[in-house]
Amino acid sequence: MKTIILNGSPRKNWNTAQLLKEAKKGAESAGAEVEYIDLYDLNYNGCRSCLACKRSGIAEPCKCYWKDDLSPVLEKIWQADRLITGSPIYYGQPTGGFRSFLERITFPAMSYNDYTSVFKGHVDVDVFLTMNATLEGYQQMYEKKMEEYFGPFGFLNGKVRLIPVCDTLQVKDYSKYEMKSFSEEHKKAVHAAEFPAALEMAYKIGAGE
Ligand SMILES: Cc1cc2nc3c(=O)[nH]c(=O)nc-3n(C[C@H](O)[C@H](O)[C@H](O)COP(=O)(O)O)c2cc1C
Repeated sequence: MKTIILNGSPRKNWNTAQLLKEAKKGAESAGAEVEYIDLYDLNYNGCRSCLACKRSGIAEPCKCYWKDDLSPVLEKIWQADRLITGSPIYYGQPTGGFRSFLERITFPAMSYNDYTSVFKGHVDVDVFLTMNATLEGYQQMYEKKMEEYFGPFGFLNGKVRLIPVCDTLQVKDYSKYEMKSFSEEHKKAVHAAEFPAALEMAYKIGAGE
């Protein structure tokens, strides 16, 4: 079992990354071959619409012909069994880096003849979504939209699962920032009460439970 873990947050040790690192431990405990990648370490862009992946008669239909730091990562994911990834919600969307990645990993897999998948493999995708919104807020404002955003992962032929982790702690000390719309007391209480369970869930998801 090959599992790629991809952090779509620019922060390497915060909420999204912590969840993904637990998922990594879980996947390793189940004997998977795991690689952890920070998307924001890479120099890449979204789809450049070169359309090389749509040219007639190409040898490999599901391939991104644009070459940059993301190219080897795309290949690794197409060869994997699982992608465990995550992104914070920024302005009601996944991060810009994540959206660019999503274009690159799914567009080569999609047929422009009939919108089926030309990808021959099967990659199950788990996406952790972290956010300031409460679970109720997520369900009201974001859930449907996120299902649409991540729909193109369906071209990888596996199961696609979205895992919201809500009301996260954004900074350690709110008193040092102009962030008066948040109550530090509330944020810390939610973090203490709920984040350990989220980490445990991430471990289990990684382990395939
Ligand atoms: C640029 C930016 C935009 C954000 N927009 C939203 C938003 O629209 N909705 C929300 O619930 N949280 C929003 N947040 C909060 C983050 O989603 C939240 O703090 C997240 O857990 C951060 O993930 P990280 O700790 O892994 O970096 C935003 C944060 C930033 C930096």
